[in-house]
Amino acid sequence: MNILFVASECSPFVKTGGLADVIGSVPKALEQLDHTIKILLPAYPELKGWLKHGDVLLEMEELFGGPARVLAVRAKGLNLLLLDAPHLYDRNGSIYLDEEGFDWEDNPIRFGALSLIGAKIGLDGIGGWKPDIVHAHDWQAGLVPVYMKQSGRQAPPSIMTIHNIAFQGLFDGGVVETLGLSHDMFNPDGFEYWGHAGFLKGGLAYADKITTVSPTYAHELLTPEFGMGLEGLLKSRKSDLIGILNGIDLSVWDPQEDPALSKTYSPKSLKRKVANRQWLEQEFGLVSNPEAPLFGLVSRLTTQKGVDLLLEILPTIIERGARLVVLGAGDKKFEEAFTQAASSSPDHIGVKVGYSEDLAHSIQGGADAILVPSRFEPCGLTQLYGLRYGTIPVVAHTGGLADTVIDANAAALATKCATGIQFAPTTVEALELAIHRTCDLFLDSKRWKTMMRRAMTQEVGWNLSAELYADLYESLV
Ligand code: ADP
Ligand code: GLC
Repeated sequence: MNILFVASECSPFVKTGGLADVIGSVPKALEQLDHTIKILLPAYPELKGWLKHGDVLLEMEELFGGPARVLAVRAKGLNLLLLDAPHLYDRNGSIYLDEEGFDWEDNPIRFGALSLIGAKIGLDGIGGWKPDIVHAHDWQAGLVPVYMKQSGRQAPPSIMTIHNIAFQGLFDGGVVETLGLSHDMFNPDGFEYWGHAGFLKGGLAYADKITTVSPTYAHELLTPEFGMGLEGLLKSRKSDLIGILNGIDLSVWDPQEDPALSKTYSPKSLKRKVANRQWLEQEFGLVSNPEAPLFGLVSRLTTQKGVDLLLEILPTIIERGARLVVLGAGDKKFEEAFTQAASSSPDHIGVKVGYSEDLAHSIQGGADAILVPSRFEPCGLTQLYGLRYGTIPVVAHTGGLADTVIDANAAALATKCATGIQFAPTTVEALELAIHRTCDLFLDSKRWKTMMRRAMTQEVGWNLSAELYADLYESLV
């Protein structure tokens, strides 16, 4: 089958979070199942180098204020359709934020344009290729089903995937006019949300099916606590909502091959992992202590990720003789608090504020345990990387974290199926207890190693979930 993905990020080209990892990996697994996936992406500066290798398939004199083209290129095992509209995407700053860190003022136009072209390719095809299904990801692609619907034409079935409902793409109602959207659909049953235009809401209202990235999050989304105002709409579409767990790219995240590690290792050579811990300790100037784990955190530093709770229990980590390395960027107040903690306790806390793919790999390879204390987590990928690297995930019991980690309770330990530590609710007290449990278990090195091996052999690739997407596609045509 031919599937058009519409998304705003894709690893390894352009990434701010897990969305990119998913868009860059699931198509490869679907290709193994004989589906053809083409990914429509904005031609940001990070992707410009590929344009010269591309075939121009569509040219427009005018797309919201400037000329635009769509080029097709096969890059790093993926079929990309690059929307080259320099007035919208070719600029300094990040893909969503300007150089001062504010949302680009024309984000509704930038992603409205992406959605409009996604809908056009859905309706007309491109370069002789016609999608059987249009699959839109997150709010940036939310208007794809809206534009297809308002065309009044026969359109291929569409799917809207929620990677994180906290980001809904809500804009002033004036964009209805600017984006040429139909006023008939600008109402509470359509894409209007309390007077604003809701891009994600539009996708959820008009897509044929809705998916999200874990079964537990699919249930959570129906509650006011997690649905973030869209729980009513989602409840009304409950029979069309499915949770399909994310997988990871096993070729990119492989402790047996990873070039970022000082020593590669496998479940059969766990001793070699120690060299990676030593490297991290040196890199961050930490004391070593074989009696207590080295914790890692690789995360956006935001309230979602529960990093404020972690800041509160740093004294416990230090008292237990454990250590912590943090790689993250996000809210200034958290960046500063972690930097401050590292300068007060340089032997035990190491912090790098910023973004580094290599260091993320080194932390997964070198830490003993990876922390994910999220308040909500649609799926979460860092715990999956942790599992694959035998770096025990210590996670809040929510969303995809609940679905992917088997807590080391007495029964799981007795049957040797534990793969991590879970805690609930997401509070300082519960996290603190989880740190103590982790430190205690770490001292039982036989059990710890059993858990590492079990974690490393857990299925975390795309095999199972790609089949579920394929089934869903087939059910729609
Ligand atoms: P989210 O998408 O909500 O941020 P995920 O766990 O799904 O959470 O994905 C996060 C991805 O971003 C992972 O690939 C993780 O390694 C990566 N990541 C997060 N922060 C950083 C950072 N500062 N440097 C490098 N990679 C990071
Ligand atoms: C979002 C979610 C994260 C998920 C990722 C990929 O960024 O916050 O939990 O893993 O999307 O689906």
